Amino acid sequence: MQAIDWNNNVFSFLDQTLLPHEERFRDTTDYRVVAEAIRSLRVRGAPAIGIAAAYGAALSILSPALADTRDARHALDEALAVLAGTRPTAVNLFHALDRIRRSARNAASLQELRASVVAEAVAIHQEDIASCLAIAVNGAALLPDSCSVLTHCNAGALATGGVGTALGVIIEGYRQGKVRRVFADETRPLLQGSRLTAWELTRAGVPVALLTDSSAGSLLSRGAVQAVVVGADRIALNGDVANKVGTYPLAVLAHRHAVPFYVAAPRSTVDRSARSGNEIPIEERDPSEVLEVAGRRMAPEGVDVYAPAFDVTPNELITAIVTEQGVYRKPFRELAGSAPGGD
Ligand code: MRU
Repeated sequence: MQAIDWNNNVFSFLDQTLLPHEERFRDTTDYRVVAEAIRSLRVRGAPAIGIAAAYGAALSILSPALADTRDARHALDEALAVLAGTRPTAVNLFHALDRIRRSARNAASLQELRASVVAEAVAIHQEDIASCLAIAVNGAALLPDSCSVLTHCNAGALATGGVGTALGVIIEGYRQGKVRRVFADETRPLLQGSRLTAWELTRAGVPVALLTDSSAGSLLSRGAVQAVVVGADRIALNGDVANKVGTYPLAVLAHRHAVPFYVAAPRSTVDRSARSGNEIPIEERDPSEVLEVAGRRMAPEGVDVYAPAFDVTPNELITAIVTEQGVYRKPFRELAGSAPGGD
């Protein structure tokens, strides 16, 4: 399953807003289409957002209408600004755009500029594919035999360039015979759990049970789950984790019921400039996403809405953060370095 792709200078993406009803890929050579796709969650999930933005930036300088390097640099700056304004929380977006900016710095000709930026975008994608595979193996090693696992939102192939982060861990655990069953929160209000995670797991042949977000307490109190595994949109240096809204209450529940709570994410999700979760910008979504279900209004006129897209789970509730470089544990001091020690 590959939700984003790059072939002969054309970016392709699976429109995730249409899932699970329709699997429609779209091709584009216009960075504005990529920006719109990220903004409207056609392409979503922190690593996938970063990769798509990098390809979008590359598209902006490939137009044959650009006469020279000056023109192209101007087009690139404009694209970088538009892409940076699409979604605020997933730090992979900003890391990817920074890498693209740096890769463009020393190019002496238009040809060199194009080659360098495209190569950087492809490298960001390839690195994510490799990171996902390593995260899957590192995370599966933490799971107990014969376990049931709970996950939230979608941190699978759809959300990355590779096999996924949290879902990569879970599917690898299933392949190793450790995971018997997956519980997937439906993930209100955009239903990434039911529309995307349940779809991915079903395609992978992994037994999955869907639950409303508010049923997680009941599930955990019955001892039906031995691990919670989620992804991340931004990790602060102290180990605080921003992920899809509803992750924090799951961590509180997991702590209450002594169930390990694992976060799986590539190192590109660590924000070295954020000392704690307080410094992570949280995206506010349009009130209509809460007020409406399938396009039909479900609340009286005049009602106010609280619609954060993400919440922050404090580090003390996290058992371990699994990356491609290994497993980080409390007090997460080694997040500031390049690799964890110990484990
Ligand atoms: O709003 P979304 O669907 O982009 O949110 C996605 C999540 O919160 C994921 O859990 C996170 O990006 C990790 S994806 C590997």
